[in-house]
Amino acid sequence: MSRLSATLSRVKPSPTIAVTTKAQELKAAGRDVIGLGAGEPDFDTPEHIRAAGIRAIQEGKTRYTAVDGIPELKAAICAKFKRDNGLDYVPAQVSVGTGGKQILYNALMATLNPGDEVVIPAPYWVSYPDMVLLAGGEPVSAPAGIETGFRLTPEALEAAITPKTRWFIFNSPSNPTGAGYSRDELQGLTDVLMRHPHVWVMTDDMYEHLAYDDFEFCTPAQVEPALYGRTLTCNGVSKAYCMTGWRIGYAAGPQDLIAAMRKIQSQSTSNPCTISQWAAVEALNGSHDFIAANNAVFKRRRDLVVAMLNQIEGVECPTPNGAFYVYPSIAGLIGRTSAGGALIMDDEAFATALLEETGVAVVFGAAFGLSPNFRVSYATSDEALEDACTRIQRFCAGLR
Ligand SMILES: Cc1ncc(COP(=O)(O)O)c(C=O)c1O
Repeated sequence: MSRLSATLSRVKPSPTIAVTTKAQELKAAGRDVIGLGAGEPDFDTPEHIRAAGIRAIQEGKTRYTAVDGIPELKAAICAKFKRDNGLDYVPAQVSVGTGGKQILYNALMATLNPGDEVVIPAPYWVSYPDMVLLAGGEPVSAPAGIETGFRLTPEALEAAITPKTRWFIFNSPSNPTGAGYSRDELQGLTDVLMRHPHVWVMTDDMYEHLAYDDFEFCTPAQVEPALYGRTLTCNGVSKAYCMTGWRIGYAAGPQDLIAAMRKIQSQSTSNPCTISQWAAVEALNGSHDFIAANNAVFKRRRDLVVAMLNQIEGVECPTPNGAFYVYPSIAGLIGRTSAGGALIMDDEAFATALLEETGVAVVFGAAFGLSPNFRVSYATSDEALEDACTRIQRFCAGLR
């Protein structure tokens, strides 16, 4: 295509989708590929939630709905925020969209003007900076490296804030590191935010329920109630409820912001899938027993992957307390050459050689704004993980 918009030229396609596509191509060509790139649970949507979707179809709940969600779902979301986070919201403060992705995008589109800055701790979920760019703003990375357990320090947050800062995006537990902030760690950040009343908080709590060991999830408006009036608390059913394909995400925050987000949605996609909304009502109101069962499996896989990766000389893999990712550093391997003759000059070269020489697909750290690392998604079977980690061990042992 010859002529694209200036805005589009500012963004890049999602690297995580690119890795998944490349792995699928190699698989289709007959290669033995293990994909550790995808950010979705390998479990099916629980039976009672699927049944609610089927029931919605059979009952004819298949028409347009209110643009930003049916009243039943908004009520379920208000109840969820009260139950899980101690936050009081009314339905007019709630927006439901086509996945967490659309919610975040709508909020940025609704609020950013040219030159507005958005502070994003790095490493970050790949879509944050590009969404900011699409909305006309400027992403500002704030370093949250391995030395601080991939957690942003109050000093680093303070240093990133300028008079132009519009939003601070917060994500705990994090994609791509799995790091979750304790209440004290989060309080350190909210104390900084209290000194900067022009900065709003967009908290992406997508991995709230995927937490291990004794990690206790908390969210900014809960830790610092004085931030409630300038916080958009975002969440969704994709990850914890194994509903990535249903496309339901939601947020709660100030009513005028929610109205602005509704306006964008009304002129773009309209309501999220009606059937999925009814399934999400069941997800939020129904039994949550499956989450603990799934988390026991995720924790076992996390421990397996962390142990096997830490056996590799030159690799350092911290143990995360949430989500289903690990983000090992390969600082000790940079500059070496693989058995297949590839020079590992950075994490992208590492991931490319690993895929070509062993068939293991991971996402390189530069995609998430912090190198030299790679991200492993352990939301796949124990057998595949053990096989993949053995191949990674062998590949690294072959580096000279
Ligand atoms: C941190 C984070 N936020 C939001 C999303 C988007 O979720 P959804 O599939 O509901 O759009 C993802 C998905 O990968 C994510 O990792």
